[in-house]
Amino acid sequence: MRLIILGTGSMAGEHARNFALDPEVEIVAAVEPTQQRLGQFAEAHGIPHRFAGLDEAIAWGDFDAAANVTPDAVHYPTTMQLIAAGKDVFCEKPLATEYSQAREMADAADSAGVINMVNLTYRAAPPVQRAREMVLAGEIGTIKHFEASYLQSWLVGRHWGDWQTEDRWLWRLSSAHGSKGVIGDIGIHIVDFATYAAGSDIASLSSRVRTFQKVAGDRIGDYTLDANDSVVMSVELANGALGSIQATRWATGTLNDLRLDLYGDRGALRLLAGGRQSSLLACIGADIDTQTWREVACPPVPTNYLRFATAVRSRVNGDPDFRRAAALQHVLDLSFAADGLGSLAIA
Ligand SMILES: NC(=O)c1ccc[n+]([C@@H]2O[C@H](COP(=O)([O-])OP(=O)(O)OC[C@H]3O[C@@H](n4cnc5c(N)ncnc54)[C@H](O)[C@@H]3O)[C@@H](O)[C@H]2O)c1
Repeated sequence: MRLIILGTGSMAGEHARNFALDPEVEIVAAVEPTQQRLGQFAEAHGIPHRFAGLDEAIAWGDFDAAANVTPDAVHYPTTMQLIAAGKDVFCEKPLATEYSQAREMADAADSAGVINMVNLTYRAAPPVQRAREMVLAGEIGTIKHFEASYLQSWLVGRHWGDWQTEDRWLWRLSSAHGSKGVIGDIGIHIVDFATYAAGSDIASLSSRVRTFQKVAGDRIGDYTLDANDSVVMSVELANGALGSIQATRWATGTLNDLRLDLYGDRGALRLLAGGRQSSLLACIGADIDTQTWREVACPPVPTNYLRFATAVRSRVNGDPDFRRAAALQHVLDLSFAADGLGSLAIA
């Protein structure tokens, strides 16, 4: 497979390193408007061709597939262009910034018959795959309740750089730069993580969304800091389970944790992924009476990058595909709409 990488910012390195693990993938070009970044990236990963824009790359055309690692709002126009050119696309999440666009992308990919996948990274976390198998096998019975959260703290700590000066963080805080805030950035991961493990999609939700003041005037240079930083959803799944899904960038003391507890009527599962540790614990059978949790072994899972490469070779689409990502986008849109419905104040 001859692959191009579109967008050579911070996440693009992950794509280059991971695709390089497949000997049949050749990264033939990088596309990026910021010239210095393009040059450094292409040098670092030994990529022969460089383009300042997608038009040029498509006019050249000597590639099969593209990894779209541009900012969120750029996914839609560039992916539609790639699909129209008949290229397979591995797109970063969120697929688009609104459901109608995401659905259009899924429809276009299906009509064109191109391979289409979205990089919901935590599908490759072994606990989520093992948990889903256990749930679908009935090992915890019927899920009644769940708690899911995705916790980051880059607005508080400097471990990932300085959000006040680096554009890769500032665009994530600004609606005008296409960000849907924490909801679009990591809310999509935890909605997918929770519903995939639970084996059931969201049937209804209510939500509270908050943008906290970060600097005086809520503005840094061209960036108006109006995109949300915290969301709390209460959710009912199609299988009847009730639960909460939260995401925040204000979880001081956590690096990048996805946490999920699934409580069934015959057992429970506790998943941790994303950060420095990954684990799956189960409390099943006689252990329920003593609240004893035991570690469950989780076999390794291939990354989305390698599964995309396999899908391109086999011409059988992989999961999560654009259709799944569009369904998640629908949930994200509803979480904004539900926040607008307000809440009851204590008089
Ligand atoms: N799957 C994950 O776990 C994960 C993790 C981090 C980021 N992401 C996603 O990856 C994407 C990129 O994030 P990032 O942190 O690398 O952002 P970034 O700002 O560091 O990099 C984006 C790059 O795209 C370039 N770009 C902008 N418009 C372009 C265009 N039209 N054509 C080509 N390049 C263009 C920018 O100049 C920049 O270099 C985002 O959608 C983000 O949500 C996913």
